[in-house]
Amino acid sequence: MGTERPGSQIMGTGAYAPERVLTNHDLARMVDTSDEWIRERTGIRERRIAKEGENASDMALEASRRALEAAGITAKDLDMIIVGTVTGDLPMPACAAILQRKLGVTTIPAFDISAACAGFLYGLSIGDQFIRTGALKRVLVVGVELLSRILNWKDRMTCVLFGDGAGAAVLGPAADDGRGILSTRLYTDSALVDSLCIRAGGSQEPLTVEGLAEQRDKVFMVGSDIFKIAVKNLTSASKAALEAGGLSANDVKWVVPHQANMRIIMQVALRLDIPLERFVLNIERYGNTSSASIPIALDEGIRDGRVKRGDTVLMCALGAGISWGSALIRV
Ligand code: ACO
Repeated sequence: MGTERPGSQIMGTGAYAPERVLTNHDLARMVDTSDEWIRERTGIRERRIAKEGENASDMALEASRRALEAAGITAKDLDMIIVGTVTGDLPMPACAAILQRKLGVTTIPAFDISAACAGFLYGLSIGDQFIRTGALKRVLVVGVELLSRILNWKDRMTCVLFGDGAGAAVLGPAADDGRGILSTRLYTDSALVDSLCIRAGGSQEPLTVEGLAEQRDKVFMVGSDIFKIAVKNLTSASKAALEAGGLSANDVKWVVPHQANMRIIMQVALRLDIPLERFVLNIERYGNTSSASIPIALDEGIRDGRVKRGDTVLMCALGAGISWGSALIRV
């Protein structure tokens, strides 16, 4: 996953967030919390919530269309679709298969990656490998989550943190100008499986009336367990991507981190010795959109002109599994 020269590059990005905004003040009317607590502990002010009837594949479709347009290609030019998600439309088949149908293409491989918040970086790394080997030319990588439907809206420890959204990137072969995916790093450590999970609804514990009543089909998280390991692992993964790409923190123009908690991001910034001004941040407006968070932020940075052609961008994410990873790219 390290490189001598880039094998693939991001040809275009796109993002989508549902219209409906749920503010901290709205949440304070639903559970025992406050705007002040949420802002101070997380940096989040508001998040987007998908409307009834809107599915993960619909959000993925919007983000994908925008990414394809930015890349200057159509869905017919794609060789593969990878979707990072833990909230696909159906338990089976893959959200990527439903997205494929909505994009109007057939037969190309389309599959989901279940790596929670690291799903987009896992997809990016896999897509890069296929292009690097010369097996494929164009890969669509999507991060999409509709977390609002798998939250316990009575649990203030989790329901204030998350939001819905989608982001996408089209990968193609790197040109000979130094732009492209310079390195990726992926990791999983199962030690904290029980600290962040959905306890029922899988094959281990099929849903029962009792399970439903106890909201065991919703996100369960011991936040403080994840917090500590997040700072450590995001920092080491970022350093590993830099080393593999032969660069140092000084060479990084922008960091696009997973937007889970502003305090985690600040600690990582300190440890990497990269000022926060060089971080693309939108946690305030979207909360934690899991696998969608990095591609949404990257797309925002590119579209508003902050992230320019040739800039070196470092990305890192960590979530359930725990799975985490990093990527170093030249845009
Ligand atoms: N409003 C008010 N009070 C609250 C709320 C709330 N929404 N939530 C918790 N509290 C209270 C707790 O009950 C506790 O009260 P007590 O001291 O009386 O017991 C107090 O606030 C502190 O609780 P902590 O859990 O220790 O708070 P912490 O500072 O750790 O912040 C948070 C919690 C924001 C969840 C933090 O731990 C975090 O961000 N963790 C990492 C999350 C993450 O990165 N997850 C991975 C990605 S998600 C994925 O993969 C799907």
